[in-house]
Amino acid sequence: MHTRREPDRRARRNSIHAGAERHAAPDRSAALGQYRARAAVYDFEIASVEPMRRRAIERLGLNAGEAVIDAGCGTGLSLIALARAVGERGAVIGVEQSPEMIGRARDRIAAAGLHNVTLVNAPGEEAEFPRTADALLFHFTHDLMQIEAAVERMMAAVRPGGRVVATGLKWAPWWMPATNLFVRVAAPRSVTTLAGLDHPWRNLAPHLTGMVVEAGYGGGTYLAYGTRK
Ligand SMILES: C[S@@+](CC[C@H](N)C(=O)[O-])C[C@H]1O[C@@H](n2cnc3c(N)ncnc32)[C@H](O)[C@@H]1O
Repeated sequence: MHTRREPDRRARRNSIHAGAERHAAPDRSAALGQYRARAAVYDFEIASVEPMRRRAIERLGLNAGEAVIDAGCGTGLSLIALARAVGERGAVIGVEQSPEMIGRARDRIAAAGLHNVTLVNAPGEEAEFPRTADALLFHFTHDLMQIEAAVERMMAAVRPGGRVVATGLKWAPWWMPATNLFVRVAAPRSVTTLAGLDHPWRNLAPHLTGMVVEAGYGGGTYLAYGTRK
């Protein structure tokens, strides 16, 4: 995967999409319907971007005994790697609003015999956390990241100095029309609003120091990371 750093301001300046979509908030009931229908095929559909998951988890820099939150954990594709990284004394907390997606996550952790994973079936903006976390992952969770209250709740569960990593689709610069066509076609399968795709990490930025955003896949994806203030 090709990656390059892209300062926040450039992503904003280059956006040709932001204006009209700025006020469209995620639609919870549409999202629940979307993932009810998609849960059975989700793992196959996301397979082509799995290298991004590996990079995101590496970037969390997890140590044995730590706690990590997987925000919008879906079918639990990150959970086994996270659970191994923190070990038996550590903890993984997966938060997910879709009963069908989290049901698959539950089956996955039972099949793997993991005892250090807690699953919370709730919208991010209402989730209760069993403990403070050392790290937080948002992997392809655009809708969730556009809800300021949800981001605030997740961030409040991370200790100061904890690591936060986010990935997903974003608009590419205007001179990459083929990439933007791909994003325009692919995103509606996963999100209920295209608003914020010019700058999907904007609600994270106020909570982080040393934030870095790297672009990949021709500018159509990002990996953002930083340290909780
Ligand atoms: C594209 S999937 C990503 C799943 C998972 N993070 C992964 O790596 O495969 C987005 C997930 O976010 C969940 N989601 C969307 N909005 C949410 C919210 N407000 N609170 C919790 N989960 C949410 C969806 O139900 C869906 O499972």
